[in-house]
Amino acid sequence: MNAHAGKHTADATTVEEGLAIAEAQDKEYNDEMATETAMANTLLTPRFYTTDFDELDSIDVTPVREEWDKLIARMVSDPNKGHFKKNEDWDHVDWDGMEPQLKKEFIDFLISSCTAEFSGCVLYKEMKRRGNNKDITQLFQLMARDEARHAGFINDALREAGLRVNLGFLTQKKKYTYFRPKFIYYATYLSEKIGYARYITIFRHLEEHPEHRFHPIFKWFEEWCNDEFSHGEAFALLMKTDPKLTQGKNVWWIKFFLTAVYGTMYVRDHQRPAFHKALGVDPDWYAHEVFTKTSEMTKQIYPITLDIENPRWQRGLERLQKANADLAAAKETGGPVGLVRRASASTRAAAAFVGLFLIPAKRHNVPTSTRLEPAY
Ligand SMILES: [Fe+2]
Ligand SMILES: [Fe+2]
Repeated sequence: MNAHAGKHTADATTVEEGLAIAEAQDKEYNDEMATETAMANTLLTPRFYTTDFDELDSIDVTPVREEWDKLIARMVSDPNKGHFKKNEDWDHVDWDGMEPQLKKEFIDFLISSCTAEFSGCVLYKEMKRRGNNKDITQLFQLMARDEARHAGFINDALREAGLRVNLGFLTQKKKYTYFRPKFIYYATYLSEKIGYARYITIFRHLEEHPEHRFHPIFKWFEEWCNDEFSHGEAFALLMKTDPKLTQGKNVWWIKFFLTAVYGTMYVRDHQRPAFHKALGVDPDWYAHEVFTKTSEMTKQIYPITLDIENPRWQRGLERLQKANADLAAAKETGGPVGLVRRASASTRAAAAFVGLFLIPAKRHNVPTSTRLEPAY
């Protein structure tokens, strides 16, 4: 009998325990389709990252000690322990009765979210394992704990649809992308903050329109986004230990990551029209809402925000999205015609991205204290 049988990832207090529970479940149940989807590596699918762990380990958090200790104390108190599992609030899901296109897009959403959560888990766990710096390893242990719970919970939802992402298999087989630590900060900080903005925007919308809550997992989004919020706070503090990270030519990198993360979200969400229709959400409204919230939050550490009110911004996003849709269609076509169409669509996508990147950013002063409260 497995020592972890009967236990749930939501109750795991360390990432190791969470993953052992997930592994025990993998043995009982596994689905190739879900794992294959999670394995896919395209520009738009969530990636796994690796970095220079020694450099990360050498960070000294002394300059931000006061805020650091408060944040860590809150994470150690573990307000969400036991939260990420099904309870009496989990309504029955009629997977068979679900409209097929919605089902397809929603499953894609769940698999991609599970992969993204797990990508964070793997990176954070590796940092914890490799490091010797007590502050850094403690933070990464706590964040990995949370992400393992999040991924485990999405897998619970997938399992009801007869699917499951094999997390152990992904760890071993999915391709890892190397990013220098500073790029990890820019990308991960943003993905945590945009994750918060995405989850809270859907949660607030469904509070007002419960008739659109077609799946119970959305009820968990509030506590969920609070975890992501804390993770973002941690990365803001890490960046604050070295002011150079947010000055000089690094501001161009910040702008690049802002544009890439926002652009990717826009394109990816527009691939799921039925999903957004079922939620009663216009994807253009949703994107703008999420960008607005994310921009407001990132002012805590970044000296620029993208000018998302500039008419060129929306036009550029639409061009980027159209080029990506054409690219996907050209891949389906195949043959020489498909090849020509692919080249044309790739060029247009690149041009649209450059166009977005070149819109002048808005500058502002960064406050002395980075500390934020989840305010939305
Ligand atoms: Fe998460
Ligand atoms: Fe997170």
